[in-house]
Amino acid sequence: MPRARIVSTGSYVPERVLTNRELEQMVDTSDEWIIERTGIRERRIASEKQASSDLAYEAAKSALKRAGLKPKDLDLIIVASVTPDMPFPSTACILQAKLGAKDAAALDVNAACSGFIYSLSMANAFISSGQYRCVLVVGAETLSKITDWEDRSTCVLFGDGAGAAILGPADGDAGILSVRLHSDGSMGDLLTLPGGGSRNPVSKDTIKKRLHYIKMKGNETFKFAVKTLEKLVADTLAEFRLKPSDISLLIPHQANLRIIKATAERVGLPIEKVFVNIDKYGNTSAASIPIALDEAVRCERVRPGDYLMLEAFGGGITWASALIRW
Ligand code: UT7
Repeated sequence: MPRARIVSTGSYVPERVLTNRELEQMVDTSDEWIIERTGIRERRIASEKQASSDLAYEAAKSALKRAGLKPKDLDLIIVASVTPDMPFPSTACILQAKLGAKDAAALDVNAACSGFIYSLSMANAFISSGQYRCVLVVGAETLSKITDWEDRSTCVLFGDGAGAAILGPADGDAGILSVRLHSDGSMGDLLTLPGGGSRNPVSKDTIKKRLHYIKMKGNETFKFAVKTLEKLVADTLAEFRLKPSDISLLIPHQANLRIIKATAERVGLPIEKVFVNIDKYGNTSAASIPIALDEAVRCERVRPGDYLMLEAFGGGITWASALIRW
């Protein structure tokens, strides 16, 4: 069966920069605490008028341009997001209309921070089966809209942005070699947004209780993430009998610099082989890997023939990895 390859990438972040110093004026925190505990220095914030599809649109346009493709060439659009424009229609359908990608199928994926890798896996399967040839995958988030700006334990962490990849059939050795997807719904309460769905429909009471904002058990999530990601990366390497030194670049989900460093150390990868941009954007959930991938491609940190690994951990809980030969 033909495997899929990433043909091009694109990304977009909103102009507005929110610094740690500004956050010091909003909640009881400090630039020093945020940098030491998370590695984040600033993050981007969408304007009042910008929804996730607007960010997705810019990232998608950039990826299409770099591939030399037109929207009508797309067979399928997948958008990974926990901040869809609205419950329905899907953000992917809204994006399809904005792009004018007439006749492309479109759907959203909610696997939180692992959403981009889950979507990549679906795109790979559609292409391998021969059903589609040209698939646009976008991770797009406006987490600032679901962040409790009075909760210092979460509001310093998140940011907005979008990253896109266009996939098509691979030839030769290149392409997506393996995708591993995992979940454990019994631990879902580590990271939730409890209000606004069918369990707790929006009401004055849910708003008063601030249930429409992200809730996270940060420390428990941290510990579980480090343990899980170490095994995930090790398993992915073992599947192809690769050594850590065979990997040219690891692009991890950007949740916390300490998680990124701990994972790299435990699996024996020098930090120089790990792509880090959390300092500029914070945690952008499903958008973090495709934004980082686009930056890595643009600054030529991935070259033809390289083994590239992606890994993520997030709400659900979910975790996932992808091994790609560039
Ligand atoms: O993206 C999907 C998955 N998400 C993650 O993987 C995130 C995982 N978690 C984390 O990144 C970290 O747990 C945090 C950065 C959220 C927190 O770091 P931590 O080292 O786990 O800190 P903590 O929650 O144990 O809190 C330590 C102290 C507490 O004070 P006390 O109880 O020791 O007096 C907190 O109240 O730090 C306090 N604290 C803060 N202080 C200043 C919590 N948030 C802040 C803050 N500024 N913003």
